[in-house]
Amino acid sequence: MERDFKYSLSFISSSPSETINFGEFLGRILKSPAFLALKGNLGTGKTLLTKGVAKAKGIKEEDVVSPTFVILNVYKTPKEIICHLDCYRIKDEEDLADLGLDQLLQRKDVLVIIEWAEKIINALPKENTTVVELEFSNDDLKRKISIYSNDSKFIEKIKDFLRKE
Ligand SMILES: Nc1ncnc2c1ncn2[C@@H]1O[C@H](COP(=O)(O)OP(=O)(O)OP(=O)(O)O)[C@@H](O)[C@H]1O
Ligand SMILES: [Mg+2]
Repeated sequence: MERDFKYSLSFISSSPSETINFGEFLGRILKSPAFLALKGNLGTGKTLLTKGVAKAKGIKEEDVVSPTFVILNVYKTPKEIICHLDCYRIKDEEDLADLGLDQLLQRKDVLVIIEWAEKIINALPKENTTVVELEFSNDDLKRKISIYSNDSKFIEKIKDFLRKE
């Protein structure tokens, strides 16, 4: 999948709050329709990052919980509809049909955030998709975060943000 993207960058998040802050920055620069594909093992910080994104959109952090059992949570803001999807319990793209996701994906005002995106990566549009991969590091509080995109300006904005942090 990552091979399909022209641009990428990686950095180390040193704490949970750094991951939330980074998510908040992503939330500010992502413009609908947008797909944020989060990859990474259990406990790497996908939900924390999502809380940051939601915070940027005016949704309370505590309202964002892992939708592992319901699979899909939907949050509405005046401008956008935010779909938070957890594919942990999903086998493959075919299972998605049951969620009525197709209709949501047609909307222009949608921001879709997907945990365990590796399972359904082929269902995502090639355009407007950003992949974020989270990996454990040698320290309990550290995560390696890698971003893949076809939008050079988007990647440049992230580089600027990381330089200032
Ligand atoms: N630098 C860091 N960034 C993100 N989370 C961190 C970091 N350091 C420690 N953590 C801890 O890792 C955990 C991440 O949990 P979170 O629920 O976000 O993971 P997840 O990837 O969504 O897991 P799951 O696959 O179960 O949904 C939290 O307990 C958080 O405090
Ligand atoms: Mg989660």
